[in-house]
Amino acid sequence: MTMAMPTKVLFVCLGNICRSPMAEGLFRHLASQAGYSCVVDSAGTGSWHVGEAPDPRAVACMQRFGIDISNLRARQVHPEDFKTFEIILAMDAANLKALEAMRKEGSRPRLFTEMCQLGVPEIPDPYYGGPEDFERVFRLLHTGLENLISQLHRG
Ligand code: 4NP
Repeated sequence: MTMAMPTKVLFVCLGNICRSPMAEGLFRHLASQAGYSCVVDSAGTGSWHVGEAPDPRAVACMQRFGIDISNLRARQVHPEDFKTFEIILAMDAANLKALEAMRKEGSRPRLFTEMCQLGVPEIPDPYYGGPEDFERVFRLLHTGLENLISQLHRG
């Protein structure tokens, strides 16, 4: 049975080509497996990669787990996002700070690692790393997103 998921979730990193599109694709995949319909998107606080597909290393990492994110395209966070999304999750403290500088009254962006109850301070930026760094990001996101989906399920 498909249940309605009342929340709209936005994942935010710096470039929107590594961590947040991985989170978007994985959340969509896990939510669909759990029988939820969901509204999910991702964006970057920076503009350098706007319009680009995810980093090929992020695409390859997700592909190893059977998830295709090659059709996603990077975009920058927009002021409207604070109205549209009830849950806005930053991958690290620098991106949370950037979101807090833009946010609207009544909207409270949070750290992914806190909301998803991961015992680490942030999702590390894999951009200057290797495939193992992308796999570590995947594992952290997977654990965190399973926690998030059970929180949303409990309401
Ligand atoms: P992301 O990774 O924030 O996880 O998408 C990065 C992508 C690009 C850059 C830094 C981090 N960059 O410096 O261009």
